[in-house]
Amino acid sequence: MFPAACAIALLCLVSASLSAPLACEDLLRPLDQLNLRHLEGRWALVAGSLSHLPYLERFKQRDSAAVNFSSNSTEINVSYTRSLRLNNKCQYSSYNITMEGSSFTYDGTDKSNASARFVHTSCHDCMLMHMDVESGKRQHFYLFSRRRQLEQEEIEEFTAQVECLKMPPPVVMDPTKELCPEETAADPTAQTEEETEGQKNLETIKRTP
Ligand SMILES: *[C@@H]1O[C@H](CO)[C@@H](O)[C@H](O)[C@H]1NC(C)=O
Ligand SMILES: *[C@@H]1O[C@H](CO)[C@@H](O)[C@H](O)[C@H]1NC(C)=O
Ligand SMILES: *[C@@H]1O[C@H](CO)[C@@H](O)[C@H](O)[C@H]1NC(C)=O
Ligand SMILES: *[C@@H]1O[C@H](CO)[C@@H](O)[C@H](O)[C@H]1NC(C)=O
Ligand SMILES: *[C@@H]1O[C@H](CO)[C@@H](O)[C@H](O)[C@H]1NC(C)=O
Repeated sequence: MFPAACAIALLCLVSASLSAPLACEDLLRPLDQLNLRHLEGRWALVAGSLSHLPYLERFKQRDSAAVNFSSNSTEINVSYTRSLRLNNKCQYSSYNITMEGSSFTYDGTDKSNASARFVHTSCHDCMLMHMDVESGKRQHFYLFSRRRQLEQEEIEEFTAQVECLKMPPPVVMDPTKELCPEETAADPTAQTEEETEGQKNLETIKRTP
């Protein structure tokens, strides 16, 4: 009786210890098929985590953020504009990226240290981005959605994914804070904003959609 219970308990322990890493592997599996048409358009940042704590603190201060992907006919040359609302001001930055399966790298010399990949999520209208910054020294993990606010289970899945990455608990954006308006190329204020505020916060905002 006793040895049998022991054996069963042991089996349970063994299977528990085996299933934990498998669960993370499953939770962090890359997106198998990136559909560019699905990626295009605007995504609101819903939650995120940054491995570097001082940057995470600054990340918490932003009111809202969004990215808008667009692609110009080819499947690999894609660009996106990131808009960020901080202290009631909007900042915009644009990036050209090269897609490689479900990953991408930044074009241009100053971006060569950062890369990102899309991670699978069960949320149907979400986009999950895992970035390696400064050649892997820092990690950023961002959950975007077409919606501003997600269901509790969807945030819980993201939280579990963040735990798997051993990153700080996610910061969830306030869905009531307005997103920045669409950037118009001819808007001089947007340009000024990017050059002044943008320079000040350059290091923080560089890789933080
Ligand atoms: C697409 O490429 C063409 C030709 O290079 C350019 O004129 C056009 O502005 C581009 N459109 C976008 C959305 O980048
Ligand atoms: C498109 O992507 C290729 C491959 O990375 C790159 O060499 C090329 O410069 C890109 N073209 C543009 C217009 O960005
Ligand atoms: C992105 O690529 C386009 C076309 O090659 C170029 O005109 C634009 O300046 C690039 N933008 C950035 C932010 O590198
Ligand atoms: C890459 O990151 C290293 C370490 O932070 C930095 O010294 C270097 O200037 C970066 N290179 C580029 C091209 O950004
Ligand atoms: C997203 O970018 C595309 C291409 O630049 C633009 O036509 C579209 O209006 C933008 N959408 C938003 C919501 O900013």
